Amino acid sequence: MTTLAPAPTPVALRRRIELSIDGEAVTVAEGTTILQACRTLGIEVPTLCYLETLAPVNVCRVCVVEVEGSRALVPSCSRPVAPGMVVRTGSERVRTSRRMVLELLASSVDLSTAGGDVHRWIDEYGANADRHGPAGGPTARDRAHAGHHEASAVGEAATVAQVVKRDNDQYVRDYSKCILCYKCVEACGEEAQNTFAIAVAGRGFDARISTEFDVALPDSACVYCGNCIGVCPTGALMFVSEHDLRASGEWDESRQEVTRTVCPYCGVGCNLELHVQDNRIVKVTSPLDHDVTRGNLCVKGRFGFEFAQGG
Ligand code: SF4
Ligand code: SF4
Ligand code: FES
Repeated sequence: MTTLAPAPTPVALRRRIELSIDGEAVTVAEGTTILQACRTLGIEVPTLCYLETLAPVNVCRVCVVEVEGSRALVPSCSRPVAPGMVVRTGSERVRTSRRMVLELLASSVDLSTAGGDVHRWIDEYGANADRHGPAGGPTARDRAHAGHHEASAVGEAATVAQVVKRDNDQYVRDYSKCILCYKCVEACGEEAQNTFAIAVAGRGFDARISTEFDVALPDSACVYCGNCIGVCPTGALMFVSEHDLRASGEWDESRQEVTRTVCPYCGVGCNLELHVQDNRIVKVTSPLDHDVTRGNLCVKGRFGFEFAQGG
């Protein structure tokens, strides 16, 4: 017999918790995270691995804040508020920690197609991408195995640079742009798709996203739902159409219109956002706040647009 988990208590019925953030008193429902409480006060806290549709994985640590009485800085995206908590979001210790995270990422990862917020935070926190020296040459990261880390040359910053993986007609994987936020792994796994085609392989600096035994995507369990592309914050996972337009210098978001519609392929009612440039659909996303699919689609909704334009 299947036992159903008890339904969560509605927010309105939850105990109210009073705390202080940056000297301001705020009252929120029990179970609210520090990040959510900050947002109710309009305080911006940077996040990279957090997404409201996924369970927090706590891997990037750019969202840390100082909590009085806590020895270590705490990740605001996952830590629930507690009565009487005193939180500081902009102390020198917090800023130093965030700067270090952003600096390590900026020195090792190609952030050229990451969202605008990432570049704004790099400026705001004074993160210096060159602090660790010039970028080291590309390494064969997929060859790495336990105990055999290939160090970069002395004076060079190690990077995650590697050859772009283009092994199917739908999307490109450029892990030189991967910040290892785990969002794609979650979206492919138990948070949405339950396909488990990708996971994290390796440890430490050699850790990387990989299919099982690093097989090409068509030989993996991938069903091309594209949910991993939908959550990737850096453009490491990208539609072939976007990748090619960027490569030829034609990608221009200022010339694009986004039209929201309902997927015509079946009766589920998924919402599609069609990104159109020069009368051609160049990619398809789905709104995170839509209660049918919360940003997720299947292969037909995500990539079936070729049918609409005879491609
Ligand atoms: S396209 Fe879908 S099935 Fe394939 S790796 Fe991405 S999330 Fe997994
Ligand atoms: S490929 Fe994108 S979503 Fe996946 S871990 Fe890397 S940055 Fe995150
Ligand atoms: S956003 Fe909180 S740990 Fe990454």
